Amino acid sequence: MKAIEIKKNIYWVGGIDWDLRDFHGYLTQKGSTYNSYLIVDEKIVLVDTVKHYLVDEMLERITNIIDPSKIDYIVSNHVEMDHSGGLPKLLKICPNATIITSPNGKKGLKSHFKEDWNFKVVNTGDSINIGKNDLQFVLMPMVHWPDSMATYINNAKLLLPNDAFGQHVASTTRFDDEIGWSIASAEAAKYYANIVLSYGSQVKKALDAVSGLEIDMIGPSHGIIWRSHINDIIELYKKWADNIVEEKAVIAYDTMWDSTDMLAKAILNVFEDKGITAQLMSLKTNHISDVMTQLLTAKYICVGSPTLNNNMLPSVAAFLTYMKGLAPKKRVGLAFGSYGWGGQSIGEIDGILKNCGFEMLEPIKAQYIPDDETLKQIKEKLTGGLK
Ligand code: FEO
Repeated sequence: MKAIEIKKNIYWVGGIDWDLRDFHGYLTQKGSTYNSYLIVDEKIVLVDTVKHYLVDEMLERITNIIDPSKIDYIVSNHVEMDHSGGLPKLLKICPNATIITSPNGKKGLKSHFKEDWNFKVVNTGDSINIGKNDLQFVLMPMVHWPDSMATYINNAKLLLPNDAFGQHVASTTRFDDEIGWSIASAEAAKYYANIVLSYGSQVKKALDAVSGLEIDMIGPSHGIIWRSHINDIIELYKKWADNIVEEKAVIAYDTMWDSTDMLAKAILNVFEDKGITAQLMSLKTNHISDVMTQLLTAKYICVGSPTLNNNMLPSVAAFLTYMKGLAPKKRVGLAFGSYGWGGQSIGEIDGILKNCGFEMLEPIKAQYIPDDETLKQIKEKLTGGLK
């Protein structure tokens, strides 16, 4: 387990979670990393730790470079335990180290760990000299917790913004140009869609706050480090934070006896005929976090369910609950579904999408099995609605 020098005397010393597949409901097919950064200056600084079960891996990497008992400062950019989980064990090794964190960071760490550690609270604009470098701090509240902050190492021109710009990718390579832009940007999109999407206005404030810094490397707390595509990823964040969408539709649905599936395919045909890219996503076979990734840039969100026991199918309810929390904006919604007698699912879906603030198309419903004439009428109606 080696430390990797990413800048002169600055090392990546994180943990690689190869087997992670579920990150509180987010399907992490490629695993993840928890990135810690060791700065060896006149003072020894560790920025963030790792999940508790990878702390020995982090300590082994640190030990390649220095004795961990010599750490002077531990910067805690974020309280969530994938980054703070290593603190209790680390602080047994360097009990005199000072934890540098935001005001909410101190409250959060004390609430989590009930320990009377040495804290130094910092705010935006504060800086601490560690020798050749200054550590500068920028609070980034709600990107994505109240305590979140970024640390900037001035002479190294290195921004460490914790979860912002992260991606869930386990890899022995550490840089964007090594893994390739297509994978790095796709995983950053999935991360944004599933972790950050609700906080667009706070992301914009954070981007403004760091816009005056000269940055030639961004080291997030998950996945690879950005050194070749810094402007590209910042531009994507600006677009995502503004909910800028494309002429693209996502059709997310579940079906009982294939009638709602027939409606979904008829809807797909209408978008295709109008030259609008469309993605058919059965909730039997697609994870809700992958649907969210497609939805990140889609203007149209069509959600379908047959009626079961006066309600929608649980798979569709789970997706809507998840999506509502992530709060996409500036979308156009469409509810659809088949039914036998009640047909409540369509109205319920329509109501939820309306409550998300979406502009709504007229719902589409069909009793039992839609015949060719019904499907033709549905297509005509939707084609008219999209004009
Ligand atoms: Fe990667 Fe919000 O923790």
